[in-house]
Amino acid sequence: MKLKNGLLLFFLFVECVFFKVDSKCVKGCDIALASYYVMPLVELPTIKNYMQSKIVTNSSDVLNRYNKVLVTIHGNIFSYFRINIPFPCECIGGEFLGHVFEYTTKKGDTYDLIANDYYVSLTSVELLKKFNSYDPNHIPAKAKVNVTVNCSCGNNQISKDYGLFITYPLRSTDSLEKIANEAKLDEGLIQNFNPDVNFSRGSGIVFFPGRDKNGEYAPLYPRTGFAKGAAVGISIAG
Ligand SMILES: *[C@@H]1O[C@H](CO)[C@@H](O)[C@H](O)[C@H]1NC(C)=O
Ligand SMILES: *[C@@H]1O[C@H](CO)[C@@H](O)[C@H](O)[C@H]1NC(C)=O
Ligand SMILES: *[C@@H]1O[C@H](CO)[C@@H](O)[C@H](O)[C@H]1NC(C)=O
Ligand SMILES: *[C@@H]1O[C@H](CO)[C@@H](O)[C@H](O)[C@H]1NC(C)=O
Repeated sequence: MKLKNGLLLFFLFVECVFFKVDSKCVKGCDIALASYYVMPLVELPTIKNYMQSKIVTNSSDVLNRYNKVLVTIHGNIFSYFRINIPFPCECIGGEFLGHVFEYTTKKGDTYDLIANDYYVSLTSVELLKKFNSYDPNHIPAKAKVNVTVNCSCGNNQISKDYGLFITYPLRSTDSLEKIANEAKLDEGLIQNFNPDVNFSRGSGIVFFPGRDKNGEYAPLYPRTGFAKGAAVGISIAG
């Protein structure tokens, strides 16, 4: 009985910690997905290079596992559709969840080109200005640029059934109905994860659950996570 109470208190404590830090983050999660809208003539190795992280490397084929229909013709992906690219979702400066990709500039690059062409609006000019010290009008060539992409790890107050989220830049052809149909998720659920967002606004980022490499929705607290928590609870109570 004592042990049970100890465990209960422990979990209440955990919930409290998550609850208190509602707007700021304490930690991220292993993986989030970036929805990358492929423009014509953009080659897969180029996208892999832009979206490089410890999860996606030039040589890895991890993208195939998250995208059942990754059609490539001589390295060109069939364009005008989105692919999901896994990336680590970290708590940046204790303030928000995101990942900083490193982009190496070419001659003539601008923040607008980087944000809206190369990173297809996964980041914004404002974020580039915030995380880079270059003069926005004179970005040197062959320079490293911090490209910050936001992410989500889920929200236990909305649903514990989803723990893997897509960072999805809205385009003019998107709507809540279309996104919900494609994801086979409830419109209300998707709206709840993005309060006050008009999904027809044609720009900006939204977050909704994505499928893992087995094609399934992953829960917020995987079983292994619970086992770890319980082990800690027992050692404290004992
Ligand atoms: C990855 O590929 C890109 C172009 O395809 C190349 O510029 C870059 O140097 C490569 N990076 C590594 C670490 O091999
Ligand atoms: C990403 O998050 C930061 C901090 O919460 C926010 O200021 C920014 O507008 C977000 N960026 C995008 C592209 O939504
Ligand atoms: C990129 O971010 C790192 C780490 O915060 C920082 O040290 C570096 O100065 C930034 N780069 C630029 C160009 O501002
Ligand atoms: C959402 O935005 C679209 C396009 O700007 C607009 O037509 C529509 O009325 C908006 N919906 C709501 C509920 O504000």
